[in-house]
Amino acid sequence: MKLTKVSHLRGEVTVPGDKSISHRSVMFGSIAKGTTEIHNFLEGADCLSTISCFQKMGVEIENKNGIVTVHGNGLRGLKAPDIVLDCGNSGTTTRLISGILAPQNFDVTLTGDESIQKRPMRRIIEPLSMMGADIKSINGNDCAPLRICGKPLAGIHYHSKVASAQVKSSILLAGLYAHGETTVTEPKLSRNHTELMLKFFGADVRANGTTVTVRPARELFGNKIHVPGDISSSVYFVAAGLIIPNSEILIKNVGINPTRDGLIRVCKAMGADLTLLNENYDYSEPTADLLVRTSSLKGTVIEGDIIPTMIDELPTVALMACFAEGTTIIRDAAELKVKESNRIAIMVQNLKAMGADVEETEDGMIIHGGKPLHGAVIDTKKDHRIAMTFAVAAMAAEGETEILDADCVNISYPAFYRDLENLTK
Ligand code: S3P
Repeated sequence: MKLTKVSHLRGEVTVPGDKSISHRSVMFGSIAKGTTEIHNFLEGADCLSTISCFQKMGVEIENKNGIVTVHGNGLRGLKAPDIVLDCGNSGTTTRLISGILAPQNFDVTLTGDESIQKRPMRRIIEPLSMMGADIKSINGNDCAPLRICGKPLAGIHYHSKVASAQVKSSILLAGLYAHGETTVTEPKLSRNHTELMLKFFGADVRANGTTVTVRPARELFGNKIHVPGDISSSVYFVAAGLIIPNSEILIKNVGINPTRDGLIRVCKAMGADLTLLNENYDYSEPTADLLVRTSSLKGTVIEGDIIPTMIDELPTVALMACFAEGTTIIRDAAELKVKESNRIAIMVQNLKAMGADVEETEDGMIIHGGKPLHGAVIDTKKDHRIAMTFAVAAMAAEGETEILDADCVNISYPAFYRDLENLTK
């Protein structure tokens, strides 16, 4: 895909449903009793992988007129799949489903694409094994494919080394089936969609700061879910609206859960003209429309507790920092190295190719803003967030930019290029 500079971006955009919440609504709906009706479900490849895994375990899931209906099998109603479960590119599917599969009374093999087979699974193998799970990396490299042989589990109190909602959720889901209470303490609070939705489905979940406890459940109960727009998909329009001259973009119905809103706080610190309109609540997942206008940004330091609240937005914020006055430092973000690609290395490589003054560090980046960007060939490593970030960069840079494997945006935002293009009119 080839893109060039635009003179402005103007108009409204509605970003697709939140990826984390879409995954969870299918997973929890599948192990709940009754029907779960999901509105604004994200039909990206990752969430479709989750649907297909549960269909292979006997769950009836329909997708009609934009509404996904899950006919839950109940907590103990999943059936042994007769083939390997393919999680595609999705870390969320792989890690959360492992917590559900470990306590079943059948055995299963999980796999995924080339990227998933390189991502660390020790982080779930260790705590699930402490609960009594039999879960092995088939190639012995702590990555997928994983062989999970169902076993009865016992609750534990796990102190996680990483602030990861995928790890936390995997353990909590296993805890629903375990004997006794299961508690997870994280070093920093990660997104809490699992806690909120499990509670909404009737589970006994209690959160206190960075610690959360779940009691074994008899049943979960299906419910109606309105998935808010994904703040992680809104970041491309936030960044574009701020750095491209003469721009004003209204991004409708974006989820602003406080465990996900670091982007908004960092934009404010950078001096962005960003306004929240129509703030709203739905079963404790708040939403708002975000109005952004072209701004003179300034550098900032992004570190500590805010990092997990904007982990997927950091690559795009690094691009914003190239257009800010002064230096931006991103630290405490080593988790970026184990996402769909090594997002620190690949951001630095591609930003440098476009002429930015940026350095890679052990756990982040240092960006000296103000150097104009020029077109380049962008190696996305088939990482959807890298492709979308550089589509925005291309529209703000002199000359032509070519984005390789541009169709990887299908993972989380199939209509991305169309939605971006609509704002150029
Ligand atoms: C996710 C959690 C985050 C995030 C990922 C989705 C989730 O990963 O990067 O895109 O849905 O729980 P970690 O929990 O591993 O940080």
